[in-house]
Amino acid sequence: MGETFQSVLVTGGCGFIGSHFVELMLSQYPNMLITNVDALTYAAHPDTPARLSAVGGGRYEFLQKNINDVSLGADLDRRGVDVVVNFAAETHVDRSILEPHIFLETNVVGLQNLLTLCRKRNLRLVQVSTDEVYGSLEPSDKPFTEQSPLSPNSPYAAAKASADLIAFAAQRTYKQDVVITRCSNNFGPGQFPEKLLPLLIANASEGLPIPVYGDGKQVRDWIYVTDHCAAVDRVMCDGKSGEAYNISAYGEQKNIDLIKRVLDIMNKPHSLIQFVGDRPAHDRRYALENKKIGQELGWSPKFSFDEGLAKTVAWYRSNEAWLKKVRGQDYQKYYKANYDSKMKQTERAV
Ligand code: TYD
Repeated sequence: MGETFQSVLVTGGCGFIGSHFVELMLSQYPNMLITNVDALTYAAHPDTPARLSAVGGGRYEFLQKNINDVSLGADLDRRGVDVVVNFAAETHVDRSILEPHIFLETNVVGLQNLLTLCRKRNLRLVQVSTDEVYGSLEPSDKPFTEQSPLSPNSPYAAAKASADLIAFAAQRTYKQDVVITRCSNNFGPGQFPEKLLPLLIANASEGLPIPVYGDGKQVRDWIYVTDHCAAVDRVMCDGKSGEAYNISAYGEQKNIDLIKRVLDIMNKPHSLIQFVGDRPAHDRRYALENKKIGQELGWSPKFSFDEGLAKTVAWYRSNEAWLKKVRGQDYQKYYKANYDSKMKQTERAV
């Protein structure tokens, strides 16, 4: 199926999900050229370019560039690219609350640059979006479908929703070939430890407190990262232009239940849990219907939540040096202040 395309440009291919997608493309399609464009922001592990290069050999090229860079046009031509898959994004909700501007620059203006470059060359653009564009559900609501209205609550989600609207506007206005994927919360190896799961594992292994926002009863819908990547591949190859495809594995979990499970797997005490003040405008529940991609493109997830969780915890436990390296790189500058203030807001311990 991936043979539909000979040369794929992936943006954000050194990030968590993008790097899994690059690996999938390289291993699944032995003749495919991959160009990986990544700005190597804090969320990219410094070893990722070399690691992917070792996997890809001569078929693979890494370019350290921002997606706002117009010189990417020359790269698209030189590499004979026939499809662009945009994983590049600022993704952390807490950070978007502290520094919203960069979210617009990368997630919105950057996407516009890619759209313009693709329009000039008649290239398909796959925009990797998120279920967070739909906003929040009540416990009794049905999961979001592709028809659910966009109702984002955080600066991050609003930037992603804006990008979705701009991408569809380009598809209608210029008849560009654009498809959008909207996936639920990902987990798996290599996620930057600002997100709940790797943060929890990193803190638990160092005996540090686990900050739980609010009452911890918020629900997230989890999917193992390689299942997401396989779904993006299906949409890239056969998704209908102008359509959005939800991607999920029906993996709803309350945060507090997930945290306790991981602590149990790691044999760590629940006393590490510390309830802290809530995230402003914290979405209560995400849940995503995946019928459309199943029926139209024949995709379904391979990993159950339990299998994915076991693999994920095992990976972080045997890659503690990786965790320490990424955390050390950014921890002081961005996270520590935020973390300390969360700790100061501690309301009660379990
Ligand atoms: P996160 O991993 O930031 O993803 P998202 O906000 O995009 O869903 O957070 C997942 C859930 O975990 C979310 O409800 C917020 C909560 N959370 C905590 O309770 N404590 C934390 O330290 C973090 C990072 C998240």
